Amino acid sequence: MAKVNVKICMGTTCFVMGSSQLHDLVDIVNKKYGEDVAITGSTCLNYCTDTSEYSKAPYVKVNDIVIQEATIDKVLQEIDKCLKQQG
Ligand code: FES
Repeated sequence: MAKVNVKICMGTTCFVMGSSQLHDLVDIVNKKYGEDVAITGSTCLNYCTDTSEYSKAPYVKVNDIVIQEATIDKVLQEIDKCLKQQG
């Protein structure tokens, strides 16, 4: 069973701001972590409306942690942290 849940926001704002470039992440995560991590795309996570600027998109959620201006590296780092915490 997956220990860490990752959601890549594919809502319009995040998509335009680069979440489409995070698509490789799905393959990387599946190869690297297998069943320890479940990665899915998501409709708007509603974080883009929290701020008047859209500059913090794209958003990715790793368990309950929200990553702003997400990059593949940032997400992988957060997954590693979560897996360590969960043992
Ligand atoms: S489009 Fe990603 S949080 Fe709204």
